[in-house]
Amino acid sequence: MKIVQVASELYPYLKTGGLADAVGALTTALADDGHEVAVFLPGYRRALEHQDALGAERSLRLKIEMGDQFLSGDVRVFSPRKNLRVYFICREEFYDRSAPYGNGERDYEDNADRFIFFSKAVVETLRLGNFQADFVHCHDWQAALVPLLLREVERNRGVTLALKTIFTIHNIAYQGLFPAKTFGRTNLPDELFHIDGLEYYSQINLMKGGILFADRVTTVSPRYAKEIQTPEFGCGLDGVVQTRADDIVGLLNGVDHSIWNPAVDPLLPVRYSSANLAGKQACRAELLKRSGFAADFRGPIFGMVCRLTEQKGVDFVLTNRDFFLTQNCRLVVLGSGDKRLEQELRDLAAKAPQKISLSARLDEAMSHLIEAGADFFVMPSIFEPCGLNQMYSQVYGTIPIVTRVGGLADTVTDIDREPNTGTGLMCEPNAASLRDALQRALLLFANPARYSAAQQRGMARDFSWKLAAKGYERLYQEAL
Ligand code: ADP
Ligand code: GLC
Repeated sequence: MKIVQVASELYPYLKTGGLADAVGALTTALADDGHEVAVFLPGYRRALEHQDALGAERSLRLKIEMGDQFLSGDVRVFSPRKNLRVYFICREEFYDRSAPYGNGERDYEDNADRFIFFSKAVVETLRLGNFQADFVHCHDWQAALVPLLLREVERNRGVTLALKTIFTIHNIAYQGLFPAKTFGRTNLPDELFHIDGLEYYSQINLMKGGILFADRVTTVSPRYAKEIQTPEFGCGLDGVVQTRADDIVGLLNGVDHSIWNPAVDPLLPVRYSSANLAGKQACRAELLKRSGFAADFRGPIFGMVCRLTEQKGVDFVLTNRDFFLTQNCRLVVLGSGDKRLEQELRDLAAKAPQKISLSARLDEAMSHLIEAGADFFVMPSIFEPCGLNQMYSQVYGTIPIVTRVGGLADTVTDIDREPNTGTGLMCEPNAASLRDALQRALLLFANPARYSAAQQRGMARDFSWKLAAKGYERLYQEAL
């Protein structure tokens, strides 16, 4: 099949979170399965600097209609592996910046223009290249306009650029909501600015367009597919999602074992496997050292790696600060984002630098070291569409502590509730329930036989993307 993927993040070119890992792994798995895959990403500064992109060919010059203006752009393309072509949509004014979405304090003011331009440029590239894809698969709000734009090309020019379109919701909390005047930048017919179209309480909602106009809608875990049809998790789009209830399916992400595998991971000081965990001890020692903790510490290390946002339940951890200050344990946090959360974690670490550390930056190597060197991985999300770190934890022999929501509930079972099959500790999304799980973690750690049995079960689980990609292939076939 000829498959086009459209996203605003793609590992290894640009990553702020799991979207990049998921789209990167899916495209690779599909290409390795023999499909002809093209993937589109904005030509961000960091992406263009990646060594794969240095030899990219400038394939097309674009003129994109945006309201009453025409904006130019160009397309750079390269092939990092067999069956896979990567297309960067470039326009310096929009993408030559240090970060993809905002300056740390807030989102860029021209994000609507940046991603409407991107979506239009993708469709124009498909048109000029006479692509004729079997599928155009779009991810999250930044690419959500593409199915509708493709439909308009078909209506206006009689050209079919894709037989079917798929829209995947990675996180319904981010919708691409902009003032009504933004609608003019899409050059779509006025009737689409309507309750049955892109209009959402007098604003334009790009994600709504993806949900309504793609042939199939997916999200990244079965449980989240149900959750987003409820007011509690739907972030105001639950009613819209319900209108597609028959077409929406939750397909779990997987783990890319060429990148996240302790037996081959080049970012670890020492590698290991379930048969020989000596290397995990070496990673633990390195993590203690890198965090500025005493090397002879024998108690449990709790690790955390995440975007610092409310979603990730960081407040539940902060409410339990006395646990980390008083118990015989260590806490290592890697994360950046929300300034308040960052400051509160920084203050906590400053209170007990011998026990608690915060690295407030993006650091791929450190994220692997924490997965490998910690004994428990803390992920008490308020909601979690899929979540990758709880899967990485199991693969790395680190017991995840997670809330019973979304993909976390679909990929972890509780060791105390299911002593023969459990691979993690589960709690409800509140501070008291997390406290209980942390206490249970201390008990588990004090019982090496139980701890290591759970660890072995986690390491034996198969989260591979080969399985996950099969789900998408089946969906593509059904849609055709
Ligand atoms: P989300 O996509 O909501 O951020 P996921 O669990 O799906 O959550 O994926 C998060 C990904 O981002 C993981 O690969 C994780 O290791 C990575 N990550 C998050 N914060 C950082 C950071 N500060 N440095 C390096 N990697 C990070
Ligand atoms: C989003 C979600 C996360 C998911 C990732 C990849 O960022 O927050 O749960 O794992 O997308 O699908």
